[in-house]
Amino acid sequence: MPVHVHPPLRGQKALVTGASSGIGAGIAQAFGAAGAAVGVNYRSHPDEAERIVEAIRSTGGEAVALKADVSNEDEVRAMFRAFGTTFGRVDILVANSGIQQDAAFAGMTLDQWRRVIDVNLTGQFLCAREAVRRFLAQGRDPSVSRAAGKIICMSSVHEVIPWAGHVNYAASKGGVMLMMKSLAQEVAEMGIRVNGIAPGAIRTPINREAWETPEAERKLLDLIPYGRVGEPEDIAKAAVWLASDDSDYVVGTTLFVDGGMTLYPGFRDNG
Ligand code: BGC
Repeated sequence: MPVHVHPPLRGQKALVTGASSGIGAGIAQAFGAAGAAVGVNYRSHPDEAERIVEAIRSTGGEAVALKADVSNEDEVRAMFRAFGTTFGRVDILVANSGIQQDAAFAGMTLDQWRRVIDVNLTGQFLCAREAVRRFLAQGRDPSVSRAAGKIICMSSVHEVIPWAGHVNYAASKGGVMLMMKSLAQEVAEMGIRVNGIAPGAIRTPINREAWETPEAERKLLDLIPYGRVGEPEDIAKAAVWLASDDSDYVVGTTLFVDGGMTLYPGFRDNG
């Protein structure tokens, strides 16, 4: 069996959306360490994106910050153009950008509904479409990967766990799940691998309220059989594997990285 003697993403060009903080920032840095050149997409925090770019460069990697709102078609196309100008081709997309706009259902505004669907679901559609177009136009480069391109859709345990008070978010992630699988089915014969990652509770700004006080963290841990809150690196390591040829036969799968959150932990002492 071949053993890796070089970084698993060496020579590959990867675009990570929502990479200025949280899970995206963790993935961008892990990709850099794994040998990929990385596009660090951000929408509103250029300084944080530059910090991630510098972190990658300081360890000898290549990276560039790219501003775009993933829900805006023109901005997404411009971002891919800029990425192509800098790196020549694209091998990997991590469609990671995501937001929450939480509200009790009766009080949820149309704007809160739309904004979450626009970023979390339509944003992934726009970025994945652009990536597929480029994968097909540029053709395979067997010296970097067996696949003609790889897409990782960032989902959530809430692609299967219903979530009161977050109906817009859960609907967006349920949508991501079937978008990912339908797209995977459509483009596998073209050599493109599409998969998803479903993180559980990861310590990032999006869910700060759920872990920032000891009481909140204790309550959160009731939902996590493995007994700890996840870190961005937990997701980043899974993303490196899913983007590399080590997972070459993995197509259309959601990889749950959740410390057991989807194991119905309420049944541990009940039922
Ligand atoms: C949400 C977090 C939440 C986690 C587990 C994620 O998709 O963005 O706010 O802590 O799911 O419920």
